[in-house]
Amino acid sequence: MQLPIDRQATKPIYLQIRDRMRRLIQSGSLQPGEKLPSIRRLAKTIQVSPLTVIEAYGLLEGDSLIQSRPGSGYFVSAATLSSSAETTFAPTQEVILQDHGASGFYEQFMASLKVQAQGGMIDFSSGFPQPWGLEELQKISRRAISQASETLFNYGFPQGQPLLQQQIAQILVQQGLEVSPKDLIITHGSLQALALVMQHYVRPGDWVVVEAPTFHGAIALLENMGARIIGIPMTKTGMNLELLEQYLHSHHPKLIYTISTLHNPTGLTTSQAHRQQLLELATHYQCPILEDNAYEGLNFEPVPPPIKAIDPHHWVTYVGTFTKTLIPGLRVGYMVVTGEKHQAILKQKLLHDFHVSTVSQAIVSEYLASGRYRRHLNQLRSTHFQNRNVMLQALERYFPQEASWTLPKGGLFLWVHLPDRLSLPDLCKEAFDQGVLIANGAAFFPGQRGYPALRLNYSHTPEEIEAGMKIIGNLLHRHLALS
Ligand SMILES: Cc1ncc(COP(=O)(O)O)c(C=O)c1O
Repeated sequence: MQLPIDRQATKPIYLQIRDRMRRLIQSGSLQPGEKLPSIRRLAKTIQVSPLTVIEAYGLLEGDSLIQSRPGSGYFVSAATLSSSAETTFAPTQEVILQDHGASGFYEQFMASLKVQAQGGMIDFSSGFPQPWGLEELQKISRRAISQASETLFNYGFPQGQPLLQQQIAQILVQQGLEVSPKDLIITHGSLQALALVMQHYVRPGDWVVVEAPTFHGAIALLENMGARIIGIPMTKTGMNLELLEQYLHSHHPKLIYTISTLHNPTGLTTSQAHRQQLLELATHYQCPILEDNAYEGLNFEPVPPPIKAIDPHHWVTYVGTFTKTLIPGLRVGYMVVTGEKHQAILKQKLLHDFHVSTVSQAIVSEYLASGRYRRHLNQLRSTHFQNRNVMLQALERYFPQEASWTLPKGGLFLWVHLPDRLSLPDLCKEAFDQGVLIANGAAFFPGQRGYPALRLNYSHTPEEIEAGMKIIGNLLHRHLALS
């Protein structure tokens, strides 16, 4: 393949390669599934360094236009969707007021762990990312430990290791969130960050706003501390802000919990305007926001900066994690806590567990220092994009017409709205008997009181997605015919 390169141009050569390739793919000159020249061959043909081609391919992969297949090379992404693909997701739904615990978090989490340990089943239900790049992680972990000084095995700061704080601050700047490393507290996964912030703001009997549906772990935490929950319906553009305002006015909640980017379970991302309006409402009614971006970095398309980026008066606490992008078991998450509450929350963190394991922090830090994180994210995004498209195609093929679903632009999940007359517990049980674990969407609503829905994790191989979706589709058709 010959690509015209202008060596006098101010545009760097890797961007010229990227742009030229992009045009060839978008015009159809390079067809889906077509193999691209190897890095070495292209570098030789156009007389540039292999690193320049690696950089260009990395960007194309990050944009999900090409995909690397270990051992085989780079290919034009196969399952692209037309840009006009639209979601019909529009459930009718009322605000849910919930004042006692009924969360299904524990049961769902344990079921997924059991299935993971036993193997042999397709688990669409969990929020677990697929294991990825194990050898590289092992190598990096060994290096992190072999380079360790004595301090690695001693007590550390409750806010985390200074180097890791700096590295996270740099990642956040790329997402449009300028923070100082001293505002960061490294936590035991993002679940601990959520618990610390909720405990700071909420007392038993207080009202707290969540999106409905939302992350069931957050519902479980709130129930556990005796909070009362207001579930504001989640539309395809985010939490219904008109209803939010009514309830801010009538119930004086103490906290708004939101997942603004790649929402769990729907996969939706709110617009800049929605973020701005939400912050204005929170400021007007003096209600702090807990912004949980557990899936940050897994977006296929650019996303707006977090709400925290437009928060000069410290209403927002921002939470992120490496558990969805790197390794769940290391349990490294973090939060950006600005303003007066920082010290109080840090003291609570110390009382919980002193600090996150210094070994876990050192491994994440070494991974970031190796410069591989961006490439790793590009590959994850590209694989997830392919898998999401395979799942969307399977939904079209196997699911009944009455179902509608969201069109997530990243993350791990699709959310499927099903007809009212279905009995989901029966359906989930029958799917389990046929080797497929699915999450009954009820678990993601306060009090499990939502419309019938499924959350489907698409971080599986295309073959597993195809096989699993066919089984669920057949069950859905049969149950609907009988109802
Ligand atoms: C939205 C959201 N927040 C937080 C978490 C907790 O993740 P971890 O504690 O593993 O970082 C999850 C896990 O599924 C999640 O989906």
